[in-house]
Amino acid sequence: MAEVGIFVGTIYGNALLVAEEAEAILSAQGHKVKVFEDPVLADWQYYRNHYALVVTSTTGQGDLPDSIAPLFHDIKEQVGYQPELHYGLIALGDSTYTHFCGAGKQFDALLQEQGAQRVGDVLTIDASEEPEPEAVSNPWVESWGARLQ
Ligand SMILES: Cc1cc2nc3c(=O)[nH]c(=O)nc-3n(C[C@H](O)[C@H](O)[C@H](O)COP(=O)(O)O)c2cc1C
Repeated sequence: MAEVGIFVGTIYGNALLVAEEAEAILSAQGHKVKVFEDPVLADWQYYRNHYALVVTSTTGQGDLPDSIAPLFHDIKEQVGYQPELHYGLIALGDSTYTHFCGAGKQFDALLQEQGAQRVGDVLTIDASEEPEPEAVSNPWVESWGARLQ
């Protein structure tokens, strides 16, 4: 059993839907899970010694949604190095935009710079190909959750 914090960045709710389905799957696997819709740094700090799952869409031109942008900036400015962190990353986007899944990619790049350990590959979900993002994310979450200790 692991503790997992799910950190959500969304504009229209697709990423939140993915996060809520992930919460159900991981809970059914026996993990202790909490979803943060407007995450702040204090929430993040707790999960540095557990697992963080970032689920974010992209807005603007490769930008982070307002719900998760403050967390990103606080991690960048105040955390620095976090090699103890284990995380997963689900990025929602649309490949008709220039910066496909730009927000999720920025988040992953930041955590990699800070020495964090990613569990599994980044999952990118393309809204132009997949009308139901949870159909793609659910199997990914199932196997991601099975890797947690
Ligand atoms: C105004 C606007 C800007 C967007 N910009 C991007 C972008 O730069 N890159 C990308 O991959 N997707 C972009 N998207 C697509 C969204 O990330 C995608 O539709 C996603 O599924 C929305 O999820 P959400 O409901 O959680 O916000 C944009 C969508 C809108 C409406």
